[in-house]
Amino acid sequence: MAAAEGQWVLMATGRSPTNIAVIKYWGKRDEALILPVNDSISVTLDPDHLSATTTVAVSPSFPSDRMWLNGKEISLSGGRFQSCLREIRKRARDFEDEKKGINIKREDWEKLHVHIASYNNFPTAAGLASSAAGLACFVFTLGKIMNVKEDYGELSSIARQGSGSACRSIYGGFVKWCMGKKDDGSDSIAVQLADETHWNDLVIIIAVVSSKQKETSSTSGMRDSVETSPLLQYRAQTVVPSRVLKMEEAIKNHDFESFAKLTCADSNQFHAVCLDTSPPIFYMNDTSHRIISLVEKWNHSEGTPQVAYTFDAGPNAVLIAQNRKTAALLLRKLLYYFPPEDKDLSSYLVGDKSILGDAGLHSIKDVEALPAPPEMKIPDQKFMGDVSYFICIRLGAGPKVVADESQALIDAVTGLPKGL
Ligand code: ADE
Repeated sequence: MAAAEGQWVLMATGRSPTNIAVIKYWGKRDEALILPVNDSISVTLDPDHLSATTTVAVSPSFPSDRMWLNGKEISLSGGRFQSCLREIRKRARDFEDEKKGINIKREDWEKLHVHIASYNNFPTAAGLASSAAGLACFVFTLGKIMNVKEDYGELSSIARQGSGSACRSIYGGFVKWCMGKKDDGSDSIAVQLADETHWNDLVIIIAVVSSKQKETSSTSGMRDSVETSPLLQYRAQTVVPSRVLKMEEAIKNHDFESFAKLTCADSNQFHAVCLDTSPPIFYMNDTSHRIISLVEKWNHSEGTPQVAYTFDAGPNAVLIAQNRKTAALLLRKLLYYFPPEDKDLSSYLVGDKSILGDAGLHSIKDVEALPAPPEMKIPDQKFMGDVSYFICIRLGAGPKVVADESQALIDAVTGLPKGL
C-alpha cells in the first residue's frame, strides 16, 4: 500500500561500499550471532564502481515493513534482516523536523513501519560481496533515519548480524574485524586500521570469471568447514593471529612485499581449508588457477612481488597492484591470455577505464598485437571467453548519506519505489 493522502513520508538515502578480505573470514563460532573463529582484515573498494544504495522511508500510513532489491520486492522476514531492524529500532532516538511538521518520539519508532529500496551498481550474481555492501547500507541508512547515535563500532556489530563481512563495510580504507571473546558478541566489531588515503597508490583489478557452476553458499560452506576441517582449527588458532599482526604492520609501513605475500598465502590457505572440508568445496576454477600462475610467475621473475591475488568464495580474481604502472603491465598480461570476445574494449574493462590508456590499449588492435608475457613458459594458448569482464578500482571511503533527494529510490509522495 502507498502512503495515504495527507500523511507525511520521511526518507533517508545512504550508499555503502563493498570490501575484499586480505585475511579471510571463514568459519563461525556462533551461527545465530555471526561470530567468527578468527580476526579478518579487508580493503574497502571505491563505491563509485561497487556499492549498494538504499533509501529508507517511514510513514504512519505504512501498514507493514517492506523491501525491494534491484526493483523486485523481497521478504524482510529472514532472521538476518529482522536482527538488524530490531537492533536499530532499539537504539532509535527522538526526531523532529519542524518545517515538515514531523515529531517522532523514541518509543514511536517501534510502531512506525519502513519501506526500503536498495540497488547495487554491479550485478548481484557476479559474486562480488553484494551482501556486505547491502547489509552495511541497510544498517547505516536505518540508523540515519532513526537518528541512532553515530557509534561506528556499534553499527558494525549490528551489520555483522546481517552478514558477517558487512561489518567491515562500515568503514573505508583498511579495516579489521576483531573476532571478540564475549558470548553475546558485543566485542565482535570492526575497527578502521587506516583510511583510504593512507596507501592510495594501490590499484585493484578484478577479473570477473565466467562460471556455469552453482557455487556452495558461504554460509553452508563455512558450516561444513567448521564441522569437518582440521586445518580450519589450526588456521584459526595458530596461523591467523600472527598473520593479522604482520598484516597490520605491512599496511602501516606501506610494505607491499609483506602485504602481497601475506595476502596470497592467506587466500591459498582459505582455499586449502575448503579442500580440507568433507565433502571438499571448490570455489576456484581453471581460470582462477591460470591467473594465480600468471601472477606467481611474474612475481618470481621480478624477484619481488608486483601484484597480490586473493579469491573469495567464488572463481573471481582480485588482483592488487602496488601502483598504476604495475596495474597497467598486469592488464597487458591479462588481456593477452583473456582477450575480449567482441570488439568493444570499453565494456570489457569497467570502473577506472583510464588504465587502458596507461597500458597502451586504445583499441582491440592493440590487444591483438600484445606480446606473450616472456616469463610464461607454457604453450602459447589463449582463453577467450573465460573472463566475463575486468573491473579497475581503487580503495574507497565508508558509507555516506546521499544528500541529493532526487537520487532517492523511493517516491516521496507514494512511499513506493520509483518506477514501480
Ligand atoms: N543482498 C545483496 N544486495 C543487497 C542489498 N543491496 N541490500 C540488502 N541485501 C542485499
